[in-house]
Amino acid sequence: MCGIVGYIGKKRAVDIILKGLSHLEYRGYDSAGVALVSTDAAHIYKASGKLNNLKEIICLENKENISATAGIGHTRWATHGLPTETNAHPHTCNCGSLIIVHNGIIENYKDLKPELEKKGCNFKSQTDTEVAAHLIAHEFEEKKDLLKAVQSAVKKLKGAYAFSIMHKSCPEKIIAARKNAPLIIGIGDGENFIASDIPAIIEYTKKAIYVSDNQVAEVKADSVKIYDENGNLIENKIENLPFEPIALSKMGYKHFMLKEIHEQPDVVRNALVDKIKDENAAIILDDVKLSKEKLAKINRIQIIACGTSLHAGLVGKYVIEELTKIPVDVEASSEYIYRNTIADENTLVIGISQSGETADTITAIKQAKEKNSHILIITNRKDSAMARMADSLLPINAGIEVSVAATKSYMAQLLNIYCFAIYLAEHTKNPDVKAISDIKKELLTLPSKLEIILNDTKNIQNISKKYSNSKDFIFIARGINYPSALEGALKLKEISYINATGYPAGELKHGPIAMLDETMPVLAILNKGVVYDKVLSNCEEAKARQAKLIGVTNFIDEKHKNLFDDAVIIPEISDIVSPALNIVVLQLLAYHIAEYLGKDVDQPRNLAKSVTVE
Ligand code: G6P
Repeated sequence: MCGIVGYIGKKRAVDIILKGLSHLEYRGYDSAGVALVSTDAAHIYKASGKLNNLKEIICLENKENISATAGIGHTRWATHGLPTETNAHPHTCNCGSLIIVHNGIIENYKDLKPELEKKGCNFKSQTDTEVAAHLIAHEFEEKKDLLKAVQSAVKKLKGAYAFSIMHKSCPEKIIAARKNAPLIIGIGDGENFIASDIPAIIEYTKKAIYVSDNQVAEVKADSVKIYDENGNLIENKIENLPFEPIALSKMGYKHFMLKEIHEQPDVVRNALVDKIKDENAAIILDDVKLSKEKLAKINRIQIIACGTSLHAGLVGKYVIEELTKIPVDVEASSEYIYRNTIADENTLVIGISQSGETADTITAIKQAKEKNSHILIITNRKDSAMARMADSLLPINAGIEVSVAATKSYMAQLLNIYCFAIYLAEHTKNPDVKAISDIKKELLTLPSKLEIILNDTKNIQNISKKYSNSKDFIFIARGINYPSALEGALKLKEISYINATGYPAGELKHGPIAMLDETMPVLAILNKGVVYDKVLSNCEEAKARQAKLIGVTNFIDEKHKNLFDDAVIIPEISDIVSPALNIVVLQLLAYHIAEYLGKDVDQPRNLAKSVTVE
């Protein structure tokens, strides 16, 4: 995570860098800084907290000090050291001449530091990045050339980095380097840009070079030179960037999260429009490049993902197994890696990721690739590192999601997983035609059912208010809605900081029930289907321990009406598609609780939207 922006050209660098950073805040927002470099002068500004704090400091500055036409900036998600001003980037060498911003983790910084201290380096921060600053500065003293200094220093670094580096003595260039962290160079006319991600530069250019691992670039106002790890000058393709300038507007909603929750009916329509014409037509999935022969050989599926995407994967397990009978394992990417996972060329490995950048999932995919498994990537970013690793790509097209807590991207992931499961089912030897057409029919009704929930949220708001002072929350469900319980609990934790846990309802009695008393709300998801009565029994058990019961259900009969202290009734929906409807209630509940508590809904503490460190 962390966002970096660099600019070199004719305009005032500070404006471009600050604007760029504001589009990268999703990568981290605990502190920020910029360095503005002109002939023999470098001015560095840093602030803890949100980017606005930095903007305020810069606003008070003397105009001359911020007039430079070259500079680098950073927005941080702390990995080493508290989010203080001192630990904020840019970092420098002793004399302040070498200036660096960094995204990633230098894993061997503790090995390198003593040697540098012996050489007289004075460390001011607790960061791993400062080691790189001193190391490159030492190389520079020897080589008197910034490009060569960086090329030599990166050979000594282990871990992940995207760097932008400047030196007071050569303000006409920025050196950029990358290994296992995203980095692009935007190509302008007499100006060039460096950024972690497209939104930072799309307003200024639509052409960019994607820097690859182990490459080092020398960026000047009128030239960009890229070198491979052996120092050879190479030519990377200039690519057209896929984005239009982003109108980041809340469209009248108080928060991006609320706006994105309300966008979900359209997200569903958009996901289905080219794929499912009607319940009897075969599904169209042009992006999946699995041949008939390959499809026939798949005997195992592994889904790897993190956070919310992992929960979408868990729903995927139920749907795929139900429709295809192919066994599916779902695992957190961070657990999949660094062990001998059983996969081969007949295994289909599905990586799910909103950002397409999550380091744990990238490492897991690399591991699966080595075993010759077919890699299907389901992502919101067609241009991401993960998309580039895919054998088949299923873009979810949810549009830019600004809120750190994922909502509409989860919905789009679910819909694409449903479509993929149907696709697989239609390619099996004996497809269950009735089950396939039923699920298509239900999916097509989803947008209007979502709208019914979203058009009247008063009841959910009242329930949110009533329980907003709870210290803990338990979410229970069975079967295909167990992942909904996990995702509902995760949403609440992420944005309200209330301790919330999702359990399979049947597990309640095996331990968690000890926590229940009249202060503990238990939210149960009950869908009319195979497990309905079982969840009801688990609700009775919770009620008998005086827990406060909230039901999210599409069916309550007379005799159970009084069981629940509060209930949200959702439209009729089949069990298999119900996770896509239930989740909206849970998203709204989490949103309104956090909102009542006055939390920073769109940018919750300690989180980042894109996690590029393992
Ligand atoms: C971070 C975000 C989560 C997200 C997870 C996986 O932790 O805060 O919202 O679910 O990363 O991200 P991905 O981009 O791979 O879906």
